[in-house]
Amino acid sequence: MRILAIETSCDETSIAVLESKNDGSFNLLSNIVSSQIKIHAPYGGVVPMLAKREHQRNLLPILKKSLQESKLLKISNFPASPAGGQFLISKQTSNSKTLNLKLKNLKTILDREPELLKKLLPFLKKYQKPNIDLIAVTNGPGLEPALWVGVNFAKALGYFWNLPVMPINHVEGHIIANWLPQPENKIPPTLPLKREELDSSPSFLKEGWGGFPSSVHFPAICLVVSGGHTQLVLMKKLGQYKILGETRDDAAGEAFDKLAKMLNLGYPGGPIISQIAAKLESKIRNSKSPPAPPKGGGLPPFREGWGGFSPIVKLPRPMLNTKDYDFSFSGLKTAALYFVKTLSPAQLKKLTPAICVEFQQAAIDVLVSKTIRAAKEFGARTILLSGGVAANDLLRETLKRTTYSLSEVEGSKINFSVPPKEFCTDNAAMIALTAAMKAVSLFIKGGLRGISKNEIPPRLLASLKLWRSGPFTKGGAKYNWQKIRVDSNLRLA
Ligand code: KG4
Ligand code: ZN
Repeated sequence: MRILAIETSCDETSIAVLESKNDGSFNLLSNIVSSQIKIHAPYGGVVPMLAKREHQRNLLPILKKSLQESKLLKISNFPASPAGGQFLISKQTSNSKTLNLKLKNLKTILDREPELLKKLLPFLKKYQKPNIDLIAVTNGPGLEPALWVGVNFAKALGYFWNLPVMPINHVEGHIIANWLPQPENKIPPTLPLKREELDSSPSFLKEGWGGFPSSVHFPAICLVVSGGHTQLVLMKKLGQYKILGETRDDAAGEAFDKLAKMLNLGYPGGPIISQIAAKLESKIRNSKSPPAPPKGGGLPPFREGWGGFSPIVKLPRPMLNTKDYDFSFSGLKTAALYFVKTLSPAQLKKLTPAICVEFQQAAIDVLVSKTIRAAKEFGARTILLSGGVAANDLLRETLKRTTYSLSEVEGSKINFSVPPKEFCTDNAAMIALTAAMKAVSLFIKGGLRGISKNEIPPRLLASLKLWRSGPFTKGGAKYNWQKIRVDSNLRLA
């Protein structure tokens, strides 16, 4: 089964092709991510209408490159028909009436993306329908104008090539990125199986298992932190989620971006702030007489004596001790703003690295503390970290170390997993893999056209039976992400 995935929820245009094989393993044939950072940088944040324009410009060239990389781009055998400049797409649609109708409908589907339509028509004329079984597309949450470009593009391709289109939740995609291949892992990983199946199938382990996914046992606590979302999710099994808490205002990444804007550091703020902080931290670490630790710092064990080292810059840890699992990063940002306002330009320049260290530490303290508390309360066997902010080295390291030290204290082994950095920030590979897992499960329920049973490994069928295609739930109530209706053939309506 081959899946083409499209991701346009924010400022990255990305297309991936994933091939899942009969032995349960999968290959990522292509994953192209085109970032719009330069376009949005002057504004210090993503401008939705600019993002929409860039997605329109980028989608077709990226699709072409992605299919090329996957060796699925083939020139059409059916040349343009001499009559009326129409062209033939396949034997089934050679009827020119049908064709005209198809083209007319394409214009309707891409009514709001005229620039994309202009590029798409000659592409469809020139190339054959690729050997793909399913199109997956992010349909939220995200920036609405940006999302619509991807969704309409997916609808147009699905309609023209007669392929099912599967909407995928972006946050779920971030979580599932934990099953994508690790860079050091040359063997392609397999889709996850139940522990019992793993134990009883050593040969399967040897053949296709990359070693990594076997470390994810359920229940798992997932911390999803990005520019748009900050959520703590309880994952009972594959496809079963419950949101335990989320940010009440800014997302963690958004707070990093806003602080960077405040300090005139550029966009996106996360990577810049963490680089500046790391420089100062290593300088202090290497100095002969490191400063004394702050009183009652509440820092994770391995950072004792280092975190919050500056007595001049002290920021709050909002909602650190509240009983719920919610977060608030707007307060942290505002506290930083008030502090910055008291500084002269020269002082600000001097203290910028210390502000970065303290801000990063404050955010991490809250994120790690609540994640660990949730892991304890729900008896988690794995902690999963994901989303753009999961690319932050200190967060990765702190959560990993704290998870392992918790394992020692609690006496039960809790695993920690975080995707490689390239799969933390937005990418279509995670959307493709989520769709692959869902496709198998939907197939089991008899809902997916175009995929034959012998293409799906029996062990996967068994292990993924419980996948729920429904949206996330919060406190048991339905949490409705899906703004776009899907018909019985999984086409977006
Ligand atoms: O997941 P993502 O690419 O997009 C959304 O779904 O929002 O996340 C982007 C966010 C940005 O806010 C960026 O500042 C943040 O991730 N980010 C980081 C780091 N790298 C990216 N935040 C902190 N430290 C980093 N190293
Ligand atoms: Zn994201």
